[in-house]
Amino acid sequence: MTRNESIDMEQKHSPEKFYVTTPIYYVNDVPHIGHAYTTVAADVLARYNRLTGKKVFFLTGTDEHGQKVEKAAKDKGLTPQEHADIMVGNFKSLWEKLNISNDAFIRTTDAEHIKTVQGLIQVLRDKGEIEKRQYAGWYCTPDERFWTEKDLVEGNCPDCGRPVEQIQEENYFFLMSKYQKRLIKYIEDNPSYILPDTRRNEVLGFLKNNTLGDLCISRPKSRLSWGIPFPFDENFVTYVWFDALVNYYSATKYLAPCSSESSRNDLPLAPENWWPADHHLVGKDILTTHAVYWSTMLMALDFPLPKNIFAHGWWTVDGKKMSKSIGNVVDPNEMIEKYGADAFRCFLFREVPFGLDGNFSEEALINRTNTDLANDLGNLLSRFSTMAEKYLNGEIKKPESFDRIDDFTRQCMAAGFEAHNYERNWASLRFNVILDHIWERIRAANNYIAQTEPWKLAKSNPGYLMEVLFNLWNALRLTAVSLCPFMPDTAEKMWKQLGLRSLIEETKQSLPKIPVEGPGNYPGIFTWDWMPGYEIKVSKGEQLFPRIEVKKEITKEKEGKGTMTESGQASTEQKTEENLISIEDFAKVQLKIGKVLHAERVEKSNKLIKLQVDTGEKRQVVAGIGKAYTPEELTGKSIVVVTNLKPARLMGVESQGMLLAATDSNGVLSILAPEKDVKEGAVIK
Ligand code: ME8
Repeated sequence: MTRNESIDMEQKHSPEKFYVTTPIYYVNDVPHIGHAYTTVAADVLARYNRLTGKKVFFLTGTDEHGQKVEKAAKDKGLTPQEHADIMVGNFKSLWEKLNISNDAFIRTTDAEHIKTVQGLIQVLRDKGEIEKRQYAGWYCTPDERFWTEKDLVEGNCPDCGRPVEQIQEENYFFLMSKYQKRLIKYIEDNPSYILPDTRRNEVLGFLKNNTLGDLCISRPKSRLSWGIPFPFDENFVTYVWFDALVNYYSATKYLAPCSSESSRNDLPLAPENWWPADHHLVGKDILTTHAVYWSTMLMALDFPLPKNIFAHGWWTVDGKKMSKSIGNVVDPNEMIEKYGADAFRCFLFREVPFGLDGNFSEEALINRTNTDLANDLGNLLSRFSTMAEKYLNGEIKKPESFDRIDDFTRQCMAAGFEAHNYERNWASLRFNVILDHIWERIRAANNYIAQTEPWKLAKSNPGYLMEVLFNLWNALRLTAVSLCPFMPDTAEKMWKQLGLRSLIEETKQSLPKIPVEGPGNYPGIFTWDWMPGYEIKVSKGEQLFPRIEVKKEITKEKEGKGTMTESGQASTEQKTEENLISIEDFAKVQLKIGKVLHAERVEKSNKLIKLQVDTGEKRQVVAGIGKAYTPEELTGKSIVVVTNLKPARLMGVESQGMLLAATDSNGVLSILAPEKDVKEGAVIK
């Protein structure tokens, strides 16, 4: 690897290619719903972009070096490599069950990746970007991170709260600090570099209010042997994050598709043309490593930066962080077995806007499957295909002329793929909005059946009946096309029942000959008038989504919180005496209206906000609402405060009271506020 290998800026962001990545997951544990979430999101994007004719490279993989993995292997009496070889199978088999269409799977123990990492370290060393230094700091072993004294929270790691140890040693440092200003400018000049906006603001806030240090990128072999050896000093291995982040680049050199096989034209993409990525999808937990470490590493290498880093939100389960000790970790394998891959995939994006935190519950998944999939979508297809078979022998033809363009048709035609900011919604990963529009069409189609009553038209107006059934066929066909990235199996099943051959194949064939950037780029199959060049014969197939009848009660996770009823609704029957309080008990709680005078984030916490509140007297309240509200939004608001709580300390900051807020099953959090203007200090009774 030489400096000359730096990439030509001219080649960046070709409209013809699309490169999307997931984080590479640690092999110290088995995958759970969080890992599935990011990977399905990348799959949805990859599938959509393939539909529009782009050459796609979708990369996922595993992060196999470092202390965590070394420790997990040791606990099992295996070598780290043996352990990784076993664990990687859990990810690969889950991705297969979830219908993940990744083009490659990178493992950081791949020889080619190791060579690339060593090459890049050497380039940085030659450029004077790496220095050896004596270093003393507080080290968090589970997080594999050094902290300074002032970072610590009550002597513990500010990230995970676990104890840290003082370590003094020689190490190699990447001179990250000198890129601080350039990075701030880059983020400011490129508003879509970090998304969503709240996350970009967080990174900017961090960069503007802190002095960026240099990054320790080595570990002495004496302390950690499970890492990539430093190319110019055999006593050191590479810090796991430096190794891991490079995967996005190294994969383009030996795993990216180079042939024109999957493309619509004959332009082969040379491996180096795949960099930079269009989207790095990550959870908000690893935004800093991507937005700061990776960006500055790329700047130092003179490589172009990725087009976008998207940090999505966090899934909790029944309102709690997933953890083995609580026993609430959701195994995606189990969800797929019970409800099917497509129902699970759709649920993840229908339920919560991508970017926000969400709360997972099996009840919500069952309810969504029953209402959206079984009732709305499944019934529509089944009613349509029954009528098509009964009245038209399954033969759908485009009427020569339309007797009338009814409202539904007009609405469907207008709601084509260029409407509703379709392209822009995809570009900004607004999956839930895209799904909302799909369900609008499904519901409109069901209403159309109720309004036109095709069973009556069979006798009274067969000409119009043909039109109605053609319109329904078209609406269902377009629904299949637009659902395809989210629910690939369901879309193909729909396609077949609609009398068509292959959604994917027919999409490729209907691609425009000359690619154009922007909305005009959609293949013919995306349009209202598309018809295949063969006869269509609709046939009623199996029900897409049978209603889930929860026969045996699903006990609500060990805590006896309630049970699932037949209809899938949660019922909490256990309102036993001990759960009830007397009016006297309630009267002990003092609630008052408070006015927020000032609000600011608690340092190093993305959840806690410190509020100065006037409740008749001034008090400081610390509230865990920082993911749902910004300090600016809160200032001036009237809120409800519990004023007679014993003071408590949250991350070292005193809280004299508690603010009331509600969180629903979707994880939406809303603070409570008085309905009319009442003076601060007003007592709530
Ligand atoms: O951090 N909700 O790997 P990791 C949503 N190896 N997403 C979640 C989640 C949750 N509760 N839990 C995990 C690492 N995730 C490094 C990455 S990349 C160069 C190296 C998802 O196995 C989310 O994408 O801890 C998060 O960022 C990732 O899993 C962390 O996976």
